[in-house]
Amino acid sequence: MKVAIIGCGAIGGVVARAVRDGAVPEAELVGVVHAEPVDPPDLPVVDFRTALEVADLVVECAGQRALAELGPSVVESAADLLVVSVGALTDDALLHKLRDSGPGGLHLCTGAIGGLDLLAATARGGGLDSVRIVTTKKAPALVQRWMDAEQQERIRTATGPVELMRAPAREVTAAFPSSTNVAASVALAVGDWNKVEATVVADPDAPLTSHVISAEGSAGRYRFEICNQPSPENPTTSGVVPHAVLSAVARLARRTGVFA
Ligand SMILES: NC(=O)c1ccc[n+]([C@@H]2O[C@H](COP(=O)([O-])OP(=O)(O)OC[C@H]3O[C@@H](n4cnc5c(N)ncnc54)[C@H](O)[C@@H]3O)[C@@H](O)[C@H]2O)c1
Repeated sequence: MKVAIIGCGAIGGVVARAVRDGAVPEAELVGVVHAEPVDPPDLPVVDFRTALEVADLVVECAGQRALAELGPSVVESAADLLVVSVGALTDDALLHKLRDSGPGGLHLCTGAIGGLDLLAATARGGGLDSVRIVTTKKAPALVQRWMDAEQQERIRTATGPVELMRAPAREVTAAFPSSTNVAASVALAVGDWNKVEATVVADPDAPLTSHVISAEGSAGRYRFEICNQPSPENPTTSGVVPHAVLSAVARLARRTGVFA
């Protein structure tokens, strides 16, 4: 399977080098589509058009805006699209365009969390009444441009955990775009944005980024606690995410003998 990667930052760079080095035996790196002035010296760089012509799978690791701008052309070109910036899919029109227009297929990366398969299974049977996700990160990673100076300062100087927002998943994902892809992933797995409440907590002492997902209903009671080391290159991203992308690439390249 020929793989092109859009974005060569904390996630895309690790994925590209791993595919180049044979970490997924069935996959071959076409190149990275890069937006920065200086190209990575050790990776093949391709333009977007070339990526579409050659790749069987295009992996988006470039952010929500890039997904909205480039994603539709990927699926229309017949390549499959693997999405990391899942938070962009709060936009229903974009989700429908990527999912339903084809001929390329849309795949969502599990990213920083797990348990989505079980949530999807229990929700499908109508077995979930409520779902919550509480995300806790180191305070500076959660400062947003829309916050006023006073709020930014309160977060930066907090001496203990501060709850920044608790609201339906769609609202929280829009307010913290680079930190709540996970809330969007939970809502998409459950298939109901309104059933999922998301909370974001800034904690100056949080050594790890944590996501506590709890759900209950007639199917049972579930609680997943995920504590990830932040990426050394980008503190808003967890270090496990590129490896989740590589697992997804491996699943797509070898569709037998894997969890589906
Ligand atoms: N699903 C999840 O659980 C999860 C977890 C962490 C991060 N993410 C998301 O993954 C995305 C990437 O994260 P990251 O930590 O690698 O970010 P990053 O900032 O380290 O890297 C992003 C790279 O994409 C490049 N880029 C931006 N627009 C581009 C374009 N149009 N074409 C080509 N390159 C472009 C940037 O120049 C940058 O090099 C973010 O949207 C982030 O929110 C998802």
